[in-house]
Amino acid sequence: MPSMTWWENSFLTVRGNKLFLGGREASDVARKYGTPLYVYGKDQVSSNFRRLQTILKEATPLETRICYAMKANPNSSILALLRNEGAWIDAVSPGEIQAALDAGFAPQNILFTGTSLSTRDLRSAFSRTGLTINVDAPEQLESMVDIKRRSFRNKATRISVRWNPGLGIGFSPRAITAGERSSDGTPIKFGVEEKKVLATYKKAAQSGFSPVGLHQHLGSGWVKEDYETVKKAVDKLVGMASNLERRGFRLEFLDFGGGFGPKYHKNQSLFPVREYIQYLCQKIDESHLRIKAVALEPGKYLTGDAGVLLLRVEYIKESYGHLFACVNGGTYNTVPRPAIYTQAYHEIVNCSRVDGRSRREITIAGNLCETGDVFGRERLIPPLKKGDILAVLCAGAYCHSMASNFNLREIPQEIII
Ligand code: LLP
Repeated sequence: MPSMTWWENSFLTVRGNKLFLGGREASDVARKYGTPLYVYGKDQVSSNFRRLQTILKEATPLETRICYAMKANPNSSILALLRNEGAWIDAVSPGEIQAALDAGFAPQNILFTGTSLSTRDLRSAFSRTGLTINVDAPEQLESMVDIKRRSFRNKATRISVRWNPGLGIGFSPRAITAGERSSDGTPIKFGVEEKKVLATYKKAAQSGFSPVGLHQHLGSGWVKEDYETVKKAVDKLVGMASNLERRGFRLEFLDFGGGFGPKYHKNQSLFPVREYIQYLCQKIDESHLRIKAVALEPGKYLTGDAGVLLLRVEYIKESYGHLFACVNGGTYNTVPRPAIYTQAYHEIVNCSRVDGRSRREITIAGNLCETGDVFGRERLIPPLKKGDILAVLCAGAYCHSMASNFNLREIPQEIII
């Protein structure tokens, strides 16, 4: 029988209408470890990494750095696996820096991109020799100059600048991280605005820092339709780097951020990752910039489709004509994305009957006291019954890492297979 699904990969497969995770029957895994449960697939993370690395290496003779945005999923086994694959790290807090060091990443391979950083955060970053601090604001640099003067006078700390190129793009207004305002009007807090970039490099150099890079991150969850905007931002980054080089700032790397991700929805047209990488490498080539390395910061691309959340249906409820599958987990504690972003969609699969004929719309409802606590709204999936195990797909990124103990519910355990 030909495959009925669009989401099968090296981790998720269907045999005899049952879901398998890394070759093991999902219902067996649920029985063995209990639910709710996060299950991650090693091979899928590796294959996502290798695919990206191959594309990059084919597109440029420069050194390539894939800095895993560990905010997506800082699970220690995933970090160790990506370190073995040759990844670098994008860390956003002292806690993330520590987790990366614990997983064996060298400080030299960590780019620290924080926002609203406290003196304490910055001191902790300064103490890691070799780490690069990405400056989010001229005002942050002032704090850094102060700290350097007081405590790290003779240390040549590497810095880069996260600039805000004035345009951004993402799947939700909450996930657009550049531009003047987000699509819902929220002023965007990230990065150094264009007219202040040069002065920031000057100040950094005068204060004894080594400015080594230029960085941008436009947003998260790009789809095909976003490609034109992304290309414009690539042009702007390369243009800014050329401008800086003409002014005497010879940079070591350009970092284009993350933003491209896995397929969450059947009808989502995938962002053209290969074309994008070829485009940005060609722009660097044509610019004759004397940089040494090109960096990307993928988060969800590496881990999103390498994870699922398993839940059990406790009972089926019918109310005012609506059908609900009431499950033993809450979105905020497990897969908070649909509760936080109205635009977020996660495919939901019945592990023991992936495909079926008789269909009726059903809402997959969690166990929290919030109306928005639904994993999926009015889904057309094969009939569910008490005791069924459901898999919420694409739960490998921004799920466990954003989960909370809301309602004093536990955050489920994670296993990697
Ligand atoms: N680099 C920086 C500086 C970032 O702020 C982010 C994500 C990334 C890289 C990785 O972006 P990715 O490749 O994963 O799209 N919580 C949201 C996503 C917000 C991401 C914010 N920054 C979600 O659940 O979709």
